[in-house]
Amino acid sequence: MQVHHIGYLVKRLKRSEEAFARLGYTVEREVCYDHVRDVNISFMKNGEYRVELIEPAGKTSPLYPLLKNYKNSPYHICYTVEDLEASKRELENDGFMVIQDTQVAPALDGRNVVFMVSADIGIIELVEREM
Ligand code: NI
Repeated sequence: MQVHHIGYLVKRLKRSEEAFARLGYTVEREVCYDHVRDVNISFMKNGEYRVELIEPAGKTSPLYPLLKNYKNSPYHICYTVEDLEASKRELENDGFMVIQDTQVAPALDGRNVVFMVSADIGIIELVEREM
């Protein structure tokens, strides 16, 4: 599986963008509001490396409580897969657990994503390949 991005949970997205820009990252996708998760999301790239900056839009965002553990730090790595449902089943057989089942990701052109967790490596995200 190829790495698509590293997801950072951030408190103030604009300031995080500035800090990443200082390190040579450029904005790949401008800030997009994700109404499914009530978060603001942007993507930045530095060579082959892509980061996703995720800022909970308010205290009611389902991701807001995660700020306690992951403020301004990476919290998931996302992998591109050919067949989302098949990869999900295979990983489930290998002990990964679904924590957020298949959902549309507005910030990724509406591609489907699923979040899973492993006791050994934490949270991962799978995204279906671009058509
Ligand atoms: Ni992500």
